[in-house]
Amino acid sequence: MCGIVGYTGTNQASPFLLEGLQTLEYRGYDSAGVDILSPDGGLHGVKCAGRVATLVERCAQANLVGTCGIAHTRWATHGAPSDRNAHPHRDCSGTISLVHNGIIENFRELREELLANGHELVSDTDSEIIVHLVEESMQGPAKGDLLEAVRIATTRLQGSWALGVICTEQPGVLVCARKNSPLVITSDETGAYCASDITAIIGKSRHITQLEDGQLARLTPDGGIYVIGADGRHVPNPQTIDVSWSASEAKRGGYPDFMSKEVAEQPDAMTRLLANRLGDDGIVLDELNMTDEEVAAIDRIYIIACGTSWHVGLVAKEAIERWAKIPVSVEIASEFSYSSVLITEHTLCVVITQSGETADTLAAARRMKAMGCRVFSICNVIGCTAARESDGTIYVQAGPEICVASTKAYTSQMVASFLFALYLAHKNGNMGLDEVKEKYDALLEAPEAARTVLERSWQDRNAARAFQGRVSSLYLGRGVNATSAREGALKIKELSYLHAEAYPAGEMKHGSISMVEDGYPIVAVVPDDDTRAKMLSNIQEVKARGACVISVATDDDEDIAAQSDYVLWIPRMTEPMFNAIPAAVHLQLLARFVAVDRGRDVDKPRNLAKSVTVE
Ligand code: F6R
Repeated sequence: MCGIVGYTGTNQASPFLLEGLQTLEYRGYDSAGVDILSPDGGLHGVKCAGRVATLVERCAQANLVGTCGIAHTRWATHGAPSDRNAHPHRDCSGTISLVHNGIIENFRELREELLANGHELVSDTDSEIIVHLVEESMQGPAKGDLLEAVRIATTRLQGSWALGVICTEQPGVLVCARKNSPLVITSDETGAYCASDITAIIGKSRHITQLEDGQLARLTPDGGIYVIGADGRHVPNPQTIDVSWSASEAKRGGYPDFMSKEVAEQPDAMTRLLANRLGDDGIVLDELNMTDEEVAAIDRIYIIACGTSWHVGLVAKEAIERWAKIPVSVEIASEFSYSSVLITEHTLCVVITQSGETADTLAAARRMKAMGCRVFSICNVIGCTAARESDGTIYVQAGPEICVASTKAYTSQMVASFLFALYLAHKNGNMGLDEVKEKYDALLEAPEAARTVLERSWQDRNAARAFQGRVSSLYLGRGVNATSAREGALKIKELSYLHAEAYPAGEMKHGSISMVEDGYPIVAVVPDDDTRAKMLSNIQEVKARGACVISVATDDDEDIAAQSDYVLWIPRMTEPMFNAIPAAVHLQLLARFVAVDRGRDVDKPRNLAKSVTVE
């Protein structure tokens, strides 16, 4: 939520800043802005409501010159999307400029205090108060030292922040700070860079410095990165990582949109994750960081996640309970604080989060940790907060996911969950090595199955016609397919703004079947598994009431074809639970075609943001 980017060096700042904002636009896209320290010693900038493209046009006219600057793309929390509320924000004297990602929870008190002190606040945002706090400490205890001034200001804040700050008094100095919001830094021979996400700076260097919570950094034009802790002490060896993927992986590469690219990348992503995961002693999952005895003793698992990742949790529950016989509770992270938690010393908490920055998920994981529970995370973004705060992390290695709707991370997270379930089942004695090997071999079919579905995208293209002129739809399934239905319905809602409801198919006759009328689109996830016979009856029930049925079915299932208006065929999978993977790919493609038909921006659906860093 919100993307920030900053640069100080020997090059002109605005090309990098604007390009960086375009890369980060998935984090928020209702307004954007940039401020540059210009050679005349002043701050010059542009900010406006609307997308980064609008800002780029305005900047072309403004001719911003200077080699140190900050920029921001916003997802509004406090104050409507408008020119006035767009970042950067400046202090009263107009000499300090600041961008912020996060939420300041005590902003009302601070705002009152600042107004009483005579500050003039011109926006409705929580962020603006920070720049005025910096102004006060700059003039007071920090004695003109921007790093110290920002540090003192952050001691007043409650909430989350990633900050970029520049000022005319210290030309060339760019100060960053973070707490509970991501911020990464790098440098090359032409200067130093900061951003909310690696994708914006990976083109400069793959060697990334990650600020820890509470840390701040001073970046200088010679590429210097000086990190301090919240107490002001120098941190000589800040945490760094070397990223394995390249800048080109974060680009669209000839696809019409990032979603198409990311959907197409699924077979390769799953293959990467599955490589070398079977050893002599079963599934290799060293990332769990637990002894065999500790694993065998796990008596209960809490899975915590949001949105699409929560759907992965539902699939994981099926696999863990079936194979490892461990009871699993799957919790929506934002609801977790209201639920009573029953843990023992052998309970494991598993958080599933693509970004590893989702505020609700992090808060829930912290609650579990505070209760003494071990936390294992399934993440995609290397070095994310969830991973850093967990006792063990499996990275799904799907590569950067830029489209706001999660696709390749979903299928890879499912693969990781299946590996995890097999690992547990073998270690706790509920599955023999031979069966583990059989299941692993069956899981190896998943990338090829996804590839086959991609080649059949014309089926989704055709089926999307069933949604033309419709305002609502129903997605049905039973067992693990009910979760596929949920995920399919979420995708269509978020991408095309068409109402879709997912229902366990057997429950439909208890109410929602009354919605069915002539031409009403119903997506039935009905692969050839133990749910098929009852699903066939459900399909007949809605067909009899005039529904237009789109079935996701196993190759050659003529009975299903006879009852369906459209069929999205998936290859036969050896393990029925793994049908969830090719089914997901079809439902992603279907949702994309429906959205494209409605003229939607599939990569940036309205009101959404990729990384949801507010609770
Ligand atoms: C839907 C989608 C969201 C995310 C959710 C959690 O397509 O992308 O529902 O799954 O915001 O995000 P992560 O996995 O980053 O915690």
